[in-house]
Amino acid sequence: CIPAVHCSPPLELSHGYLVAVQRKQYEAGEVIYYLCRKGFLLDGSNRVICQSNGTWSPTPFCRARCAIPAQRSRVLYNKQKLWPYEVQGGQVQHGEGVSFFCRDEARRCSYTIQSECFDGTLPLPPCYDEPTWLQYKLFTDRVVSEIKHCDEGNQ
Ligand SMILES: *[C@@H]1O[C@H](CO)[C@@H](O)[C@H](O)[C@H]1NC(C)=O
Repeated sequence: CIPAVHCSPPLELSHGYLVAVQRKQYEAGEVIYYLCRKGFLLDGSNRVICQSNGTWSPTPFCRARCAIPAQRSRVLYNKQKLWPYEVQGGQVQHGEGVSFFCRDEARRCSYTIQSECFDGTLPLPPCYDEPTWLQYKLFTDRVVSEIKHCDEGNQ
């Protein structure tokens, strides 16, 4: 006799769900599908199979979007220079990059540092300094993203 191979119930996803009938066990070769909740990005395959050794093929992740942590300075996103409120919902997708402007005090110019959204976290580079409300409202042209970029007009 060949012992029947079964997989135990598949893992639950914290921000997604299983498109399958819930059962106590699944047979080898059975396929199940995962979906992510609205606003979450599927990372991995949505199709998971009960393998011949009784384990499931790798389970995907549902990755969260990231809120842009800067507010009073523009950022570079999708090759555009935007105020964070101009980016849809002020949020970017998992895996997307955002560049923040930092100030080179000595040379009085700005440079950018890129950061990447990973599952809800978009780290601000340590050199980023959020402008004060007054700077932002009254002296917008002196906000770090609006001053001269270090790469232009310098020898
Ligand atoms: C089961 O089989 C898969 C695919 O052949 C393999 O990647 C995995 O490591 C195996 N798992 C165990 C516990 O043997």
